[in-house]
Amino acid sequence: MITIDGKTKICGLLGYPVEHTLSPVIHEVLARHTGENFAYIPCQTEPAHLAEAVKGAYAMSFVGCNVTVPHKSEIIPFLSSIDPLAAKVGAVNVLVPEEGGFRGYNTDLTGLGRAMRYDGVSIPKEKTLILGAGGASRAAAFLLAENGVTNGYILNRTLESATKLCNNINTTYGRTVFNPLLLSEYDKLPGDGYLAVQATSVGLFPHNEDAPIMEEAFYEKCSVGYDLIYRPFETRFMRFFREQGKSSFNGLRMLIFQGIEAYEKWTGKPVPDDVVPEVIEALEKHA
Ligand code: ATR
Repeated sequence: MITIDGKTKICGLLGYPVEHTLSPVIHEVLARHTGENFAYIPCQTEPAHLAEAVKGAYAMSFVGCNVTVPHKSEIIPFLSSIDPLAAKVGAVNVLVPEEGGFRGYNTDLTGLGRAMRYDGVSIPKEKTLILGAGGASRAAAFLLAENGVTNGYILNRTLESATKLCNNINTTYGRTVFNPLLLSEYDKLPGDGYLAVQATSVGLFPHNEDAPIMEEAFYEKCSVGYDLIYRPFETRFMRFFREQGKSSFNGLRMLIFQGIEAYEKWTGKPVPDDVVPEVIEALEKHA
C-alpha cells in the first residue's frame, strides 16, 4: 500500500464517470516497482467543470493527469501545448505539467504500439484492417498510419463514420491509408492474410458471445487478431481465431502500456517490460 505523506506526488484522473477505472491498480504496481512515492487519484469531473479542474490540478502541482471519456477531445483548448501526434489524433489522455500549464499527449496510440511489439505482432504495410470507427478505432487507425500502412480498410456498421475517419486520415497523411467498408461487405476485401484490429464495443462483458462479424469466412481472410477489449480476457472475436489455429490478443497490454507510457512521462523513470506480468496479476486479483 502507498503511504501518503507531504512528499507524495499526486496524479489525477479526469473523467466522468471514473468509478470503474482500473488505472489506480496499474499505477500502484508501477509506483511500487519503481520505488516512487506516488498516488493516483480518480477525480470525477463534470464536463461543465473541466476548465476549472485542469487549472486546479496545475495549481495544486499535480505531477500529471490522465484524461478519459468524455473529455479526451474537449480538454485540448485548456492545454498550454499539445504533442504533434496527439494533435493529429485530436485526442489526449495524458497531461504533463510544463511552464504555464499542461502539455497533452496520447499514450492510447503509443501504448497500443508498444503492446503489439510486446506481443510480437508486427504491423504490415499492406493487409491491415480495423473493425469500428469510434474513439478506440481512431487511436488504432493513426497508429497504423504512423507505421506506414497503405490501402488498409476500416469496416464499420455505419459506413458514414468509417468514410469520415478514412478521409480524415488520408488527408492528414496525403495517401490512401484506409478505405471504408461496411462490416457486412467484408467479402469485398481483396485476398487474405490481414492483421485485424477489433475496435468496436461488440463482445464487451457481459455480451461475451457477440462479435462484430459472426461468420467464419471473415476470419479465414485474417492471419492475426488484435482485440482492444480486455473484459472478457478471451472475446468471441478472439475465439474465432483460436478455432482456426491462429493467434489473437486482447486489449490488456494496450491498457497497461498506455499507463506505463504515462507513468514514465510523469516520473521521468523508465519502466521495464518485466513489470507487465505483475500488473496483470494485480488486475486479475482486482477483477
Ligand atoms: P469507443 O470509444 O469504445 O470506440 P464509440 O466511439 O462509441 O466507442 O464507438 C463504438 C464503435 O463500435 C463504433 O464503431 C460502433 O459502430 P457505429 O459507428 O455503427 O455505431 C461500433 N458498434 C457498437 N455497437 C455495435 C454493434 N452492435 N454492431 C456493430 N458495431 C457496433
